[in-house]
Amino acid sequence: MTLSNPPELSSIPLSHLIPLILALLLIYIITLFLYRVYFSPLSHIPGSKLAAATSWYSFYFDALKIGRYFVEVEKIHRKYGPIVRITPTEIHIDDPTFFNELYNVTKRLDKDPWYYSWLGRNGSIFAMTDPDQHKLCSSVIKKAMSTASISHIEPVLKSHYDVFCRRLSECKERKNLVPLSDMWRSIAVDIITDLAIPESFNLLETPYFGAAHADFNRHITFLVPLLERVPRWLLALKGRTALNVIDEIEHQKEQVKRLIANNGKPISGKNYPVIMNEVYASDLPAKEKTVKRLCDEIGILIGAGSETMGHTLATITYHILANPNIHKRLKDEIRRSCEEAELEDVLSYKKLEGLPYLNACINEGLRLATGVSGRLPRINKSQVTTYTSLSNKSYYIPPGIPISMTIRDMHYNATYFPSPRNFNPERWLDPDLKSKSEKVFAPFGRGSRSCVGKNLAMAELLMGIGNLFGRFEVEMDERETRGRESVELVHDCFSPFVKRSSKGVVVRIQ
Ligand code: HEM
Ligand SMILES: *[C@@H]1O[C@H](CO)[C@@H](O)[C@H](O)[C@H]1NC(C)=O
Ligand SMILES: *[C@@H]1O[C@H](CO)[C@@H](O)[C@H](O)[C@H]1NC(C)=O
Ligand SMILES: *[C@@H]1O[C@H](CO)[C@@H](O)[C@H](O)[C@H]1NC(C)=O
Ligand SMILES: *[C@@H]1O[C@H](CO)[C@@H](O)[C@H](O)[C@H]1NC(C)=O
Ligand SMILES: *[C@@H]1O[C@H](CO)[C@@H](O)[C@H](O)[C@H]1NC(C)=O
Repeated sequence: MTLSNPPELSSIPLSHLIPLILALLLIYIITLFLYRVYFSPLSHIPGSKLAAATSWYSFYFDALKIGRYFVEVEKIHRKYGPIVRITPTEIHIDDPTFFNELYNVTKRLDKDPWYYSWLGRNGSIFAMTDPDQHKLCSSVIKKAMSTASISHIEPVLKSHYDVFCRRLSECKERKNLVPLSDMWRSIAVDIITDLAIPESFNLLETPYFGAAHADFNRHITFLVPLLERVPRWLLALKGRTALNVIDEIEHQKEQVKRLIANNGKPISGKNYPVIMNEVYASDLPAKEKTVKRLCDEIGILIGAGSETMGHTLATITYHILANPNIHKRLKDEIRRSCEEAELEDVLSYKKLEGLPYLNACINEGLRLATGVSGRLPRINKSQVTTYTSLSNKSYYIPPGIPISMTIRDMHYNATYFPSPRNFNPERWLDPDLKSKSEKVFAPFGRGSRSCVGKNLAMAELLMGIGNLFGRFEVEMDERETRGRESVELVHDCFSPFVKRSSKGVVVRIQ
């Protein structure tokens, strides 16, 4: 006996073998597609056959076209109704009445680990899958955000709005254009880094308001974990942008390592607690205090606290400036509520929180901006989920299947918000309209995974919009701003991003 290839195979010439393999592959793919579309446990859910057959469909729009699948999902809903299949394994629902059922504190659903893994931050409370681990770890962040709340956050906010107003005054004196979208993103980053890590970024003090930072963030999709594994010299070939991402991650890791080496003793001169230290000093078990976990936690806080804020602030400013009546009414309200001398200094949160028109403008901005544009998939691991449509048809979704909804679908639903694309603060002033609106208004999500930064966000919004319009004469630069495009969602990278070529909202201070 000699060892040789089986005679059958070796006797087939290579020129025949390749077509044979291709044919088998084709049969396999066709069978798989047919199975997914017609025989899988989800085949009774309506939707595009192509989307149900292969996840390359969503990959094409979300990865290659960068965050464009939301447009296709809208189209699929228009064609097939409120419940549709958007990938071989994911169900999407557009029915405002179902939101409170899916995102409900009484349900302890898992986040979909696949969807939330794109930033490589699975150690953060944001991306954690397991409800028990989440409950444990998020209690520490919630505590930090609430002991941190207003009393100690207010002076921090004030110091950053001091810088903000000083920079605006400089632009006024020099008659410079103000890239307001970049400034909003910068102040949001400055505030959250001040609260979360020992060395804050202070982007507002940089010449171009951290445009590089804003720029790198616009490019984040699922690339970060990949980038972290690429050698530096190779990244350098791609230019500064990718390097900035990695440098920031390294910088954060550095601070975490120093904290741990220092046994949790503060490594900053700040006289208020920073969240990174709080997590390390908490009574969480040691396995929740690793370098990876701490880095993930602060990385996510910085990400979650900057793009969402920046986009919302830019959206509110755009619409106020584009509507002279609204602009005038807001200015009058803020200025009438203050003494002349008060307007010389940063207006405080306390001063602004009670102003009805300002709050109405902020709510309307939160609605239109929808700071989180991503779909929010949840999984019930053990039981079937029942969805009953308004026409009383019931659909049964097996356990283990991600079910997602998009906040934007509710915020733009004309049944609840007539002329949904209009910026109309009146919606929030009439008590009847307001209570109707609030039912489907969820900029911060709902349930156990809703936003932990909500109070901070509201304070930043009030102080940002209040100080800008209360203390400055602002005018949009029509040439640089290019209309609504400057704040319109084009790329859904979980946070909304505007058209790549847009400079955002650009203004002059008179
Ligand atoms: C206007 C500003 C903001 C909006 C619209 C917003 C919106 C949201 C939404 C919708 C979620 C739920 C996401 C999901 O279900 O996957 C969320 C979660 C979260 N947000 Fe915010 N957010 C804002 C500001 C902030 C700020 C300033 C921080 C900083 C502390 C922050 C930190 C977080 C964190 C850590 C989570 C994850 C919570 C968890 O899963 O337990 N957000 N946010
Ligand atoms: C949560 O779900 C329960 C039961 O389905 C429901 O009664 C309650 O109204 C929901 N909570 C919210 C905030 O909608
Ligand atoms: C799964 O769904 C069932 C039925 O809707 C619900 O009663 C249960 O609370 C859900 N499971 C979890 C972990 O929330
Ligand atoms: C988180 O991701 C890392 C790889 O980045 C992986 O090794 C780890 O198992 C993941 N943890 C969980 C809980 O999924
Ligand atoms: C659906 O059922 C509810 C009660 O179960 C009923 O009040 C409603 O009229 C029905 N709607 C339709 C469209 O059949
Ligand atoms: C808006 O909400 C209504 C009532 O919940 C629903 O019937 C309708 O399908 C929604 N419209 C869109 C475009 O999603």
